Amino acid sequence: MDHETCVEIESDADMVAARAAGRALAERLGFSRTDGTLIATAISEVARNILVHAGCGEILLHDVHERDRHGIVVVARDCGPGIQSVELALQDGWGSSGGLGLGLPGARRLMDEFTIESVPGDGTTVTMKKWRARDPLERLRREREQREQVWA
Ligand SMILES: Nc1ncnc2c1ncn2[C@@H]1O[C@H](COP(=O)(O)OP(=O)(O)OP(=O)(O)O)[C@@H](O)[C@H]1O
Ligand SMILES: [Mg+2]
Repeated sequence: MDHETCVEIESDADMVAARAAGRALAERLGFSRTDGTLIATAISEVARNILVHAGCGEILLHDVHERDRHGIVVVARDCGPGIQSVELALQDGWGSSGGLGLGLPGARRLMDEFTIESVPGDGTTVTMKKWRARDPLERLRREREQREQVWA
């Protein structure tokens, strides 16, 4: 892990800061501008949920590296009331408090991996990942490096 950022979420301004931090990290990791926008939008939804449904919490951002891919991890956590039914909350149009009920299912669609851990009365943690596709040149370079290591 080379980069880690934590943004406390207590106000609309913090939401904007979390969004900007996500976009900046995505850019540093080589995501396209379009992917940066998708990641920022998913961050907005989970940050808004912290404000509306839990009051306060935090968004953690970091990079993740595997042999053939790397990506961004977004963790949104709070100590709010928790979600009664995660299964219901992930359905389009289901909301407990007058919202459209599109935030969580929308964020899930924008990212590659999405998990929610929530204990009623004990807070919620949403973890989302998006992986970066390596471009063909980068892949070739990496394959050549690996071949050279074998022959070295
Ligand atoms: N951090 C959270 N803490 C407690 N409950 C949450 C949290 N996030 C989501 N929920 C619950 O899950 C439901 C669905 O969330 P979702 O973001 O999809 O919809 P919404 O926030 O109600 O409306 P929208 O996001 O479309 O404005 C919420 O109505 C709320 O009951
Ligand atoms: Mg929402």
